[in-house]
Amino acid sequence: MTEKRQSIHGEWTSRWAFILAATGAAVGLGNIWKFPYIAGINGGGAFVLIYLACVLIIGIPLMMTEVLIGRRGRQNPAGTMRSLAKDTGRSKHWQWIGAIGILSSFIILSYYCVIAGWAMNYIFRAASGAFHHASASQINHIFQHFVANPWKLLFWHSMVMLVTIFLVIRGVKGGLELAARFMFPAMLGLLIVLVIYATTTNHFIQGLTFLFKPDFSKLNSTSALSALGHAFFTLSLATGSIMMYGAYLPKKASITRAAIYIAIADTFVALLAGVAIFPIVFANGLQPSAGPGLIFQTLPIAFGQMPYGSLFASLFFLMLVFAAITSTISLLEPSVAWLIETFRISRLRASLYAGFGIWILGLGTIFSFNILENVKIFGMTIFDNLDYLTANIMMPLGGLLTVFFAAWLMRRSDVLEELGISDRLLFRAWYFAIRYLTPLAILLIFLNFVGIIQF
Ligand code: PFF
Repeated sequence: MTEKRQSIHGEWTSRWAFILAATGAAVGLGNIWKFPYIAGINGGGAFVLIYLACVLIIGIPLMMTEVLIGRRGRQNPAGTMRSLAKDTGRSKHWQWIGAIGILSSFIILSYYCVIAGWAMNYIFRAASGAFHHASASQINHIFQHFVANPWKLLFWHSMVMLVTIFLVIRGVKGGLELAARFMFPAMLGLLIVLVIYATTTNHFIQGLTFLFKPDFSKLNSTSALSALGHAFFTLSLATGSIMMYGAYLPKKASITRAAIYIAIADTFVALLAGVAIFPIVFANGLQPSAGPGLIFQTLPIAFGQMPYGSLFASLFFLMLVFAAITSTISLLEPSVAWLIETFRISRLRASLYAGFGIWILGLGTIFSFNILENVKIFGMTIFDNLDYLTANIMMPLGGLLTVFFAAWLMRRSDVLEELGISDRLLFRAWYFAIRYLTPLAILLIFLNFVGIIQF
């Protein structure tokens, strides 16, 4: 009976379309904007090592789990969880896992659009030649001046939100697939140009050492949790996004291969971004721990000194916006699908309602960089709170419950069938991971964080 479920929103045209779209969801600001700055704040190498371990032990098995759950349920994440719970005679309250995911994507999108708006502004700024031969302090000044102006941030935030809503209204094939197609190769090409530049800075080795040489003394009590949270964030896990994209996946496509491709592509882009950025940071006497402004304060220096730098810079920020938009649409989709299926309203109205709510919440992030920058809750700005709550609490918790559900409550024969592989080494390794390794790793990191155990 479950085989007959179909998504009312359509399906991807092929397995490759799914891989492209899910890679588009995964690769985004998380790789190029967030990874370098949180690696910087957490002291580099040791943090990167924990993050890579989290991708391997938690990220890939969980991604496979989410795709298979999504494809079996074929609805919004809450509806999917409710149906699967019903199939196995479990309480309908399991739908709350899906609901937490939808809420996470709603919150993340509110700040994600603001940062994507910065990148959009930088396309034009770069094209105008603002970075041409500019010094590090001039570039810092440009950035500080920009984020201090709430009206400008609001404008660019609104632009990103509008584009996202427009693409989501167009639906699975028209919008989501089309947007994913061109972004990835172009992004990769430009990152490689930046890495080549980084090799000319005389600080290339220092950058690599910072990124890859683990120094565990630099970790603090939240570092492991941040690395875990980032693995979730960068792979778009526990937000309903991947589950939602799984719901549109044709029956025959291989989930295992897709998850592995996506994780490799995502990790590769993040590491490339790190390799490009840290040499520039050290060569210009900047601080790796500069925070959310890091790439906006470093990359323009590099572009400013290259031949055709304004053109490259503008293209780079354009690609970054593309990469961000393929993620923003995946962040809006779960709320939209939930609204459509729950209230039976049109895709147009659902996209507008959800988009408007998210746009309003985005004001909190905008003001965190200017008029409310001194308002601290739990010692953090509004933006930092939203980020912390989603990446470090809601996503790991949602992920833990999801693997628990698939590993211990769903029938083994059902997951085996849905994964579509034979009951051999690969399946057994994955099943062992989601039963023991993945939940244990998440729990250990939580327990370490609250101080019950110490690594
Ligand atoms: N993975 C995206 C990035 O790294 O930029 C961000 C993201 C997209 C997070 C979708 C969560 C999500 F559901």
